[in-house]
Amino acid sequence: MRKTTYSIILILLLVITAASCNQENTVQEEPVKISLNPNGDSELALLMRSMYDEADRIKKQIANKEPVTISLDHEKILSAHATEPKKAASPEFKTFAKAYIETVNKFEGANHEESIVIYESLIKNCLDCHKSVCPGPIVKINKLKKKSF
Ligand code: HEC
Repeated sequence: MRKTTYSIILILLLVITAASCNQENTVQEEPVKISLNPNGDSELALLMRSMYDEADRIKKQIANKEPVTISLDHEKILSAHATEPKKAASPEFKTFAKAYIETVNKFEGANHEESIVIYESLIKNCLDCHKSVCPGPIVKINKLKKKSF
């Protein structure tokens, strides 16, 4: 490959990696992002996407009055490597992360009514941390808010 091609790829990678927290979700629609940057996503960013899917699934379980199941190891939020490692090492991040894990753990053994309340706190935990350390995905996270159960 020519030098300029390498430079363009490098610049693209840098831009996308740095954008993870800053970019509004409305501009980063899925297909483009994935095809441009197959390997550049941090462990924490990938975990976050799974957390999003997990929350979305839990929301559906509650809406269907099914028992809530947890399939992810949410404790990994405390150790997963982040795009900006300093962020995930900050005391704020750790405090929000622990609050989040505590909320996830409350689903165990909870009945339907309790699960509704726990789900609301869960989404609030996502938003609390994001408002403080990573505002970009807030628009997307707001879509997880329940309309009615
Ligand atoms: C303790 C803080 C914290 C909590 C709690 C948290 N997040 Fe995040 N989230 C982050 C940080 C920091 C990033 C940036 C990760 C990176 O780029 O390495 C992120 C990234 C994301 C992203 C973008 C991932 C990507 O594709 O780049 C989404 C979507 C997301 N979070 C959704 C959620 C959802 C949904 C929840 C709750 C179920 C949640 N987050 C809870 C801190 C948090």
